[in-house]
Amino acid sequence: MGDIRDPSLAEEGVRRIEWAEREMPVIRSIRERFAKDKPLKGVRLAGCLHITTETANLAIALRDGGADLVMCASNPLSTQDDVAAALTVEYGIPTYSIKGEDDDTYYKHLNAALDSKPQMTMDDGADLVATIHQKRRELLDTIVGGTEETTTGVIRLKAMAKDGALGYPIIAVNEANTKHLFDNRYGTGQSTLDGITRATNVLYAGKNVVVVGYGWCGRGVSMRARGMGAKVIVIEVDALRALEAVMDGFQVMPMIEASKIGDIFISVTGDIHAIDGHHMDVMKDGAIIANSGHFNVELNIEALAAMAEGRRQVRPYVEEFKLADGRNLYLLGEGRLINLAAAEGHPASVMDMSFANQALSIEHLVLQETPLAPEVYDVPKEIDDEIASLKLAAIGVQIDELTEEQKKYLSSWETGT
Ligand code: ADE
Repeated sequence: MGDIRDPSLAEEGVRRIEWAEREMPVIRSIRERFAKDKPLKGVRLAGCLHITTETANLAIALRDGGADLVMCASNPLSTQDDVAAALTVEYGIPTYSIKGEDDDTYYKHLNAALDSKPQMTMDDGADLVATIHQKRRELLDTIVGGTEETTTGVIRLKAMAKDGALGYPIIAVNEANTKHLFDNRYGTGQSTLDGITRATNVLYAGKNVVVVGYGWCGRGVSMRARGMGAKVIVIEVDALRALEAVMDGFQVMPMIEASKIGDIFISVTGDIHAIDGHHMDVMKDGAIIANSGHFNVELNIEALAAMAEGRRQVRPYVEEFKLADGRNLYLLGEGRLINLAAAEGHPASVMDMSFANQALSIEHLVLQETPLAPEVYDVPKEIDDEIASLKLAAIGVQIDELTEEQKKYLSSWETGT
């Protein structure tokens, strides 16, 4: 069972999964409790996530909790083949994912995971949920709930709920503070630069780095690019976020102006064609273009291809587009999320909190006595707070508590000037 590149990679996968585990103390404590109490006993679960060492540690915790788990990739280019092999061969979790699979195989793998007739789903980008609702509606009879990992997926699911199209309740893991404030900001910040660095070995110091989008991911990427000595330009369409970027010390300008001066472009908007043909049209010779948003729609690659007289792969994950006027533009990782395509995604220490939210949200859904209505829910605040406390304890940081006098003051209104 499963569909992986090469089972002989399993041993290496186990070593790397164990390495990540060292930085995932919250998941470790959840796994230990799950192994004892079996809260997910017999629950059929299909997970469509990036198949990485961090995801493997989540999967093992769920399996130890008693779940009957099948995994598939949430992106054709993010799979770590050794991890897929280890999950399938060593940990008994059938995994359908091969790095570089084409779109047909990607959907074949999603459907193979769905053939397990899951009662719950875990998604990253909402492709599993969309496939169930568009092509496998018979499964809706037995699915009781699911989770969604990322901003893009949550936006998609909220649109489904608004249309009355969502068939079962979903917990939006992304909305937890212990997810987006850390994973989206510090995880995307570090791993995006890691991906661009591994692909190109480019120097950031003194370069104009254009960050398109100033959500939590954009904030993280901008902060880290500045840390590497880049001159960071932020592009926004939201006035409040643009103002925040200005006061965070970044230059803010329209994309068409930034296009003329940028050396490295990074999109993190979650929207289509954030970097469009008319932007590429005015870019400097040698400009590097990357996406770190969930889907490969953020860069208008068709427009770039149409402008080009020739294209060639110059390094792994770096494609050169030769334009008629003599300029060369460089597209990274086929426009797919560069942090997972060319590097290893977010480090384990932040995925620890994101995936603790996944595991505890799945348990929360299992514990519901009456089924939840088919809407998109936030992670319960108690779960979010517990994860923050567990993480602090795990990294050996102690904090103070309010005194009784302070608690009383905060709940009173009489004392003023
Ligand atoms: N998304 C971003 N980084 C990731 C990682 N390391 N594992 C799983 N999903 C991710």
